[in-house]
Amino acid sequence: MASTRATARQQQTPLSDERERQKQAAARTAAELVRDGMRLGLGSGTTVAHLLPAIAARGLEGVRCAATSPATEAAALALGLVVEPLDELGELDLAIDGADEIAPSGWLIKGGGGAHTREKIVAASARSFVVIASAEKAVEELTPPVPLELVAFGVQRTLACVGDARLREAPPTPDGGLLADYLAPVGDPAELAAHLESLPGVVEHGLFAPQMVSLVLIADEQRVRRVRGAKRGSAELA
Ligand code: 5RP
Repeated sequence: MASTRATARQQQTPLSDERERQKQAAARTAAELVRDGMRLGLGSGTTVAHLLPAIAARGLEGVRCAATSPATEAAALALGLVVEPLDELGELDLAIDGADEIAPSGWLIKGGGGAHTREKIVAASARSFVVIASAEKAVEELTPPVPLELVAFGVQRTLACVGDARLREAPPTPDGGLLADYLAPVGDPAELAAHLESLPGVVEHGLFAPQMVSLVLIADEQRVRRVRGAKRGSAELA
């Protein structure tokens, strides 16, 4: 299910304990942003796996969550969090999610776990979107792979139009899409995003524009750094 980048990152290395500690530190900081009664979007992945118990441990009242993947939904329910369909919650107060890469420009790559379509819908449904990450996710420039979700019909034609891309060996998404990865250099993320969005058969890509992001919390060995995003209303979180 994981892309090449995510698979490499998940290998056990001497650094992995420190990375987990950083993910947990960022997740715990984000959990402090949740308030009683919030409608909350929950992302997917190993960093979000640290977020869920941190939210549950706060014992907040009336928090209603929308999950971006079956795995997140199951984990949240097991911790006693309330999970409802996004359409029942409507606009969300806050969504919190991980990322695969974060560029200085504020562009993100997401979707290493293949959940980027739902993640983008949830992020766009939230008044504030907070990204949580360990230090190695902050990069000088975005690099491939860029995750894609494609319509199954005519998928080889769609891949040919995308360019340098290949299907992942992964089950279809919960929405029936096929996962693939764009493998050529990213270059200008806005141009690549526009190219991918122009192609019939591309359901969604993993490039998230800076305008979607309110706040990035990046944990390193010393502290959790807060980087304000370009989304309107970001100041209240930073
Ligand atoms: C899943 C995602 C994840 O947020 C992203 O892959 C980061 O995952 P992790 O926290 O495990 O490094 O976009 O589709």
